[in-house]
Amino acid sequence: MPDVDLNTDAAGVEISAEASEIRGQGLQSRGGINSSSGVTSRAADADLLERFRNLVAYVRDWSQTGRDDQKPPEGDWRVWLLMGGRGSGKTRAGAEWVQALATGKAARPGSRIALVAETLGDAREVMIDGVSGICRIAQSNRPDFEASRRRLVWPNGTIAQIFSSEDPESLRGPQFDYAWCDELGKWKHGQETWDMLQFTLRLGDDPRALVTTTPRPVPVLKALMADPGTVTCRIRTGDNAANLAPGFLSAMAGRYGGTRLGRQELDGEMIEDREDALWSRAGIEALKLRDTGPLGRIVVAVDPPAGMGQGSCCGIIVAGLDRAGRGVVLADCSVEGASPAGWAGAVVRAYRRFDADRIVAEVNQGGDMVSAVLRGIDAKLPVTSVRASRREMAAGGAGGGAL
Ligand SMILES: Nc1ncnc2c1ncn2[C@@H]1O[C@H](COP(=O)(O)OP(=O)(O)O)[C@@H](O)[C@H]1O
Ligand SMILES: [Mg+2]
Repeated sequence: MPDVDLNTDAAGVEISAEASEIRGQGLQSRGGINSSSGVTSRAADADLLERFRNLVAYVRDWSQTGRDDQKPPEGDWRVWLLMGGRGSGKTRAGAEWVQALATGKAARPGSRIALVAETLGDAREVMIDGVSGICRIAQSNRPDFEASRRRLVWPNGTIAQIFSSEDPESLRGPQFDYAWCDELGKWKHGQETWDMLQFTLRLGDDPRALVTTTPRPVPVLKALMADPGTVTCRIRTGDNAANLAPGFLSAMAGRYGGTRLGRQELDGEMIEDREDALWSRAGIEALKLRDTGPLGRIVVAVDPPAGMGQGSCCGIIVAGLDRAGRGVVLADCSVEGASPAGWAGAVVRAYRRFDADRIVAEVNQGGDMVSAVLRGIDAKLPVTSVRASRREMAAGGAGGGAL
């Protein structure tokens, strides 16, 4: 192992590669100097450049830098379930697995791969273009992304198509050799999308799927863990400390270490519901609607934070009324640790995205500051201010009470 700091992520390496090109240009221009010292310096530059290239190749070589627990397990598994904490290296493991299937020694040119994420935006921004995404980690044989066809195409003809858990039906029809699913625990129609995907895995001798996810006690994930065809592996955020911003881990451990949230989000443990919880996960799952039908009035409810900074949370819930008069929650767009301008921006984005009729903002200590901040962004926003009633305080829901 060379004596270098390998604490470099894919993006960092990219900068290094550019630097090597610049250095190469400098080398050429100096090549014109016809003197013995020029020749010596050329040889030294060439040597430096060669060593630099080797270093870049080394830090990009997953066989050297990938941890063992980020590489596919031995054996005859059908599903490799890699559960881990945030930033533990799940997505990177997935992207490297796909790139190896597409271009590695055992690659079968022309293979078909499904990439499934919570939304199409996540598929593109995380699995493909994200810091750990396929296009960022691919050293050579980088695939092209054909946005209009929602697919990646490698030079050898292997193709990966992207899918969203919001639209399980789009998996009706295609067939695949392999699938990589990211953050299945958060998928909108998790069971349905997973089931549809199973019918598509019918190409080649050994169709396989990798699921990389932070654990959530949702039925589809629990069933997957119990399936004899699944190999479940767990990684912790701390295992990837060398590649995370300094201080991140200690800050997270200080805040969440030992808590249920910390065990789930940092240690990658599957944590079941609390017995004394007001709502059970199964109860919430049972209330989920696939299709809301036409909705009447839509409002964005805002529960502004009392203060600012890390611990503050602005509750932002979008809800509508269906034909039967039931309230349907469409999205939780709450933001943590944002400035007033930050959370107000999130409210306005939610308002526009759902084409809402009105913003309903709760007024606590802040007086009418909330409407003022919102109207600072768009003077024409229809904002109604409401005061928290005693009943709402008892329910204590972020944003929900303002409905
Ligand atoms: N083995 C590794 N070597 C170098 N960098 C890594 C390694 N594993 C992960 N990383 C980097 O660590 C960061 C977090 O990894 P990521 O896969 O995005 O985490 P997760 O999906 O678990 O939240 C990314 O910058 C990723 O490229
Ligand atoms: Mg990830």
